[in-house]
Amino acid sequence: MKISGNTILMTGGGSGIGRELAREFHAMGNTVIVAGRTAASLEETIAGRDGMHARTLDVGNAGDITRFARELLADFPALNVLFNNAGIMAKEDWLADPVDLAIAEATVTTNILGPMRLTAALLPHLRAQAEARIVNVTSGLAFVPLAHTPAYSASKAALHAWTQSLRYQLRETNVELVELAPPGVQTGLTPGQATRESYMPLKDFIAETMESFRIEETPDEVCVQRAKFLRTAEAEGRFDQTFQMLNDAYEG
Ligand SMILES: NC(=O)c1ccc[n+]([C@@H]2O[C@H](COP(=O)([O-])OP(=O)(O)OC[C@H]3O[C@@H](n4cnc5c(N)ncnc54)[C@H](OP(=O)(O)O)[C@@H]3O)[C@@H](O)[C@H]2O)c1
Repeated sequence: MKISGNTILMTGGGSGIGRELAREFHAMGNTVIVAGRTAASLEETIAGRDGMHARTLDVGNAGDITRFARELLADFPALNVLFNNAGIMAKEDWLADPVDLAIAEATVTTNILGPMRLTAALLPHLRAQAEARIVNVTSGLAFVPLAHTPAYSASKAALHAWTQSLRYQLRETNVELVELAPPGVQTGLTPGQATRESYMPLKDFIAETMESFRIEETPDEVCVQRAKFLRTAEAEGRFDQTFQMLNDAYEG
């Protein structure tokens, strides 16, 4: 699809990957709306940039998604791109007695139900546009799970499978489905990760990712070189070894 002149919604645009992608798309000549729960961070993302807009949204709250979608479409009738980027990640201890489900439930609500509900709310509108795209941000952990964050890894595997199914169902429409599967990137997603040396610097991740979005033929899966180690583990017959290595090396 065209690379400029789009109207793009970026959830989780107040920090990390979402913030930097939003700024890149804006610099390419797109109107970009960033959404998240924290107004101050969203305002920081858009500060001094005409054509960037900020809206509060809690993707973990079905009622808020309905309100947000109604207001968004009234204000931005040209909306044609949705980035389901907002997400949370936290450790869980399944040896605890009783097992605390709070993190698992919040993760499923935010990382799986959030994109599903928001997509459902916006899809009829997207289908009425000349060209439209939905980008779901999954993770390398969709392909080799990090056992220390079971619900998170499962949520990204679910989002991967859901993206594939939607792509099939929408194959004869104007809506294309893209999956963006990052490797470990230096952001504030989990404590300590912003400075973890083994993770990819955010700037490098954004630069390599944007190579795929600066062309009209963006691939179905956008996966930087570093993430391919996890993405192709099973296909290359090294899943068990990669799983062991990933989990033994965990520093969180
Ligand atoms: N960094 C990595 O290593 C990595 C690797 C693979 C995949 N990813 C994925 O990349 C995406 C962006 O993560 P990031 O690394 O950029 O971390 P981040 O800086 O923590 O960004 C996550 C964003 O999601 C927003 N968010 C969280 N819960 C929300 C909710 N209920 N409603 C609306 N917004 C919500 C947060 O804003 P508020 O808290 O203000 O709402 C925040 O801006 C996530 O989906 C993550 O799973 C990251």
